[in-house]
Amino acid sequence: MIIENIEFEKLDETNFHLLMEWKNRNKEFFFNKRDISMKQHIEWFDNFKKDENNLMFLIKYDSEYIGSIGARIIDSKWDIFNVMNINSFNKGMGIMSFSLHEIIKKIRLLKRLPVTAKVLNTNKNLNWYLKNNFIISDEFPKFFLIKYVK
Ligand SMILES: CC(C)(COP(=O)(O)OP(=O)(O)OC[C@H]1O[C@@H](n2cnc3c(N)ncnc32)[C@H](O)[C@@H]1OP(=O)(O)O)[C@@H](O)C(=O)NCCC(=O)NCCS
Repeated sequence: MIIENIEFEKLDETNFHLLMEWKNRNKEFFFNKRDISMKQHIEWFDNFKKDENNLMFLIKYDSEYIGSIGARIIDSKWDIFNVMNINSFNKGMGIMSFSLHEIIKKIRLLKRLPVTAKVLNTNKNLNWYLKNNFIISDEFPKFFLIKYVK
């Protein structure tokens, strides 16, 4: 993995449809189990654009889309969401871990708040977060609340 080949692209009118496709393909890992329609996605995107505390990064490697990582403020905490590598060819190369840490650096410069995420307790990718400096801070019937510690 060559770090210089990783790029972050902001979500905008030209690429936002990709996020809907990726989320629908990966819904087994997320809270919402239904397919998102284009109408719903446009509504979400319109609200997203108005919210300065909601950031979404599309990750590229060698100019190819790899996936996404979002960060938004909820209850005075950063909530990391929509974390997905959509390209099985590039899984396990460390691109997502590197991106996660870079994005955490960026958001902490914007607002120094605790960084958290919610992971369904059926999702084995919890272990990926635990490898990446998150710890379990609380357990709920359906999900773990995890917290970045570094
Ligand atoms: C979680 C996810 C983003 C990780 O993507 P990835 O491209 O494999 O991540 P990386 O290449 O950066 O991972 C690097 C390291 O994590 C490890 N890793 C990857 N998935 C793992 C998992 N499920 N459990 C434990 N370790 C994992 C790799 O072995 C590698 O370890 P190493 O550095 O010791 O060799 C990806 O599996 C994915 O998109 N999953 C589906 C969506 C999802 O579950 N998102 C989280 C929702 S809360």
